[in-house]
Amino acid sequence: MTAGPRRRPGRPVGEITRGTTGHNRLRRCDRWTAAVYRPLLVAADRPLVVDLGYGASHVTTSELFRRLRRVRPDVEVVGLEIDPARVAAARPHERPGLTFARGGFELPVDRPPVIVRAFNVLRQYGESEAWAAWDLLRSRLAPGGVIVEGTCSEIGHRACWVALDARGPRTVTLAARLAGFDRPSALAERLPKTLIHRNVPGERVHAFLRDFDHAWQVCAPYGAYGARPRWTAAVELLAGSWPVAAVPPLGGRRRWRLGEVTLPWSALAPAGPPARARDATA
Ligand SMILES: C[S@@+](CC[C@H](N)C(=O)[O-])C[C@H]1O[C@@H](n2cnc3c(N)ncnc32)[C@H](O)[C@@H]1O
Repeated sequence: MTAGPRRRPGRPVGEITRGTTGHNRLRRCDRWTAAVYRPLLVAADRPLVVDLGYGASHVTTSELFRRLRRVRPDVEVVGLEIDPARVAAARPHERPGLTFARGGFELPVDRPPVIVRAFNVLRQYGESEAWAAWDLLRSRLAPGGVIVEGTCSEIGHRACWVALDARGPRTVTLAARLAGFDRPSALAERLPKTLIHRNVPGERVHAFLRDFDHAWQVCAPYGAYGARPRWTAAVELLAGSWPVAAVPPLGGRRRWRLGEVTLPWSALAPAGPPARARDATA
């Protein structure tokens, strides 16, 4: 990897960073992953899922395990963490099918994972390091496997994530708790590292959030019926000018009513390579 996280022989790839986590913080992403990748999980031979960088507590990995087991009762989940003290703290929570181990972006597991979830991990790296980590993670996937990489607010009410397969990033999803929701561009602060610095005029993600705010304003009258109808109407309006996923499993009213919207990555992708200045962590 060039300009990527430092690689030292025999050491996990990456750096120990803040371990902030919390119960149900990643519920929106778990729900989406279980629905969208149900066919992948159901069809896989001995499916292995990695939760990379689970933080100071086992909770988000244990929750992911519970939710994915409803889809595929024999799925195995491994929580990987670069901080050995956090691995030791999680180990008492192991149970059949759920284990915790030390590791980094190199993914030291016994077989290629079908899903890798990494949440609130890459935000603490530089932009080009995040791209390099994506490349390394993609190279470790089982055939047909996916990475779900994203960022969320402290208690998970706002989240954005990118899904990638071996070819590269495929989709971007924005998700919000709609009660008390202000405006779609408030999600900008939760964009993944590879997009957050691109919320400036001339970039697609900036134009998208501007148009989403406009649709949200136009659909204000739907707010009389609640925030869900307003969000759904705004997404439908947006779908007239943006390639919003409109059919299941990625889109359609059922998903929109949850406060989600998914687009192809190409619709929001950065216009050019990362600038050096953005490689400082933010
Ligand atoms: C903010 S916590 C996120 C916890 C959890 N994923 C969540 O969203 O609630 C980030 C964790 O990622 C870990 N981490 C950072 N880089 C890593 C890497 N390359 N491999 C594994 N863990 C990593 C950090 O040590 C930290 O515990």
